[in-house]
Amino acid sequence: MKSSPARILLGVSGGIAAYKAAELARRLIERGARVRVILTRNACRFISPLTFAALTGSPALTRLFTAAAPMAGSDDFASSVEHIRLAQSADLLLIAPATANLMARLAHGLADDLLTTVYLATPAPVLLAPAMNSQMWRHPATRENLERLRRHRVEWIEPESGELACGMVGPGRLPSMEAIIARAWARLEGRAADLAGQTVLITAGPTREPIDAARFISNRSSGRMGYSLAQAAAERGAHVVLISGPVVIDSPVASHGEIELIRVTTAAEMAAAAWSVYEHCDMAVLAAAVADFRPATASTEKLPKLAHDWELKLEPTIDILAEMGRRKRHQFLVGFAAEWAAGDETSARARARAKLRAKNADLMVYNNISRTDIGFDQESNAIVLIDPEGERALPRASKLEIAHAILDAAQARRFPARTPIIIPAETPIR
Ligand code: CTP
Repeated sequence: MKSSPARILLGVSGGIAAYKAAELARRLIERGARVRVILTRNACRFISPLTFAALTGSPALTRLFTAAAPMAGSDDFASSVEHIRLAQSADLLLIAPATANLMARLAHGLADDLLTTVYLATPAPVLLAPAMNSQMWRHPATRENLERLRRHRVEWIEPESGELACGMVGPGRLPSMEAIIARAWARLEGRAADLAGQTVLITAGPTREPIDAARFISNRSSGRMGYSLAQAAAERGAHVVLISGPVVIDSPVASHGEIELIRVTTAAEMAAAAWSVYEHCDMAVLAAAVADFRPATASTEKLPKLAHDWELKLEPTIDILAEMGRRKRHQFLVGFAAEWAAGDETSARARARAKLRAKNADLMVYNNISRTDIGFDQESNAIVLIDPEGERALPRASKLEIAHAILDAAQARRFPARTPIIIPAETPIR
């Protein structure tokens, strides 16, 4: 992103969630953006333009023309030209909340007020944060409008589910501030929503295999790599199902409405949660450090230390990645190979490549766990991406950067000949 502050046009349409746009404007400014606000006529019934003027330091815009009709040379004409200039200089048009009515007007190219006019006039990317009653969200007319908007390369963030202002429970709540801000920045940084409409399954963290009611076998995985992958995939528009073993790090769900978190403890639970999602997912990324063995018998009580012999009989757990490889149909399968290289990098990479083949994965992420500066419990990682044709080393970077690089590599393999963005001939380039 360029170093000058990002210029965000924040459009607010008339729903009960309009009041939340004031907090959003404040948070965007806090993050370093320059924000101008455009309110529809109905939005002004829920929240005053004055609130936004005070928060942003610039008057909120509400009308296309100040008098009846613009004439060249008049102030009205000057102000409408000013609006177009504003539209053209924006880095992002963010509309939050976007009501069903506003989305219908955008989808059909109506330009009957300032916000819809600016929408047609801006070359900037457009991001919507819809909020409405669940029935309206699910209505075929809204779905068709969303499809049209998708073809016009407008992005939106899935509304959250929960209790709505009308008393119903279901999808339709304005996405969380964090989700809106994260997606807005992803767009400003030029990251495409190349996983929009896709379901990505991610496993993360360790598993715990009980010995008795108090003891278990586990490993040192913190879950950070898997959680970063979940965040990265959500930033790219995916619906993410994150199946996580026990971790102490913060859940990314609070900041990304598109992430569905399933908490599990054992390898068997992780496998059971994975199957139902795997059938319909588009990509599975298995970052979990699944325990390879579990005690053959586990006591439901705590075993007294003297009443038990010291041998623990183990049996193998199910290899989730290998089983997914066997069941693979349309899914793109990414595995991790944690190898102890200790000076023999060549053999370690060869072992990772052998896992790629043996487990029928499409991409393997190799990391050298004998290095103490990366990997386990660290904020950064350095990896080698291995696919059937070759390999590419990525230097040390934050786990979020590494996560995006893994998804970039997966997308490049899934769609080798695809131009970055397919633009229907009749639609304007945003
Ligand atoms: N994996 C899995 N289920 C298991 C074991 C591993 O899904 N029971 C997945 C991991 O999530 C990872 C990949 O398989 O994506 C490789 O894991 P790794 O531990 O490196 O390899 P293993 O096959 O377990 O072999 P080893 O422990 O001998 O290195």
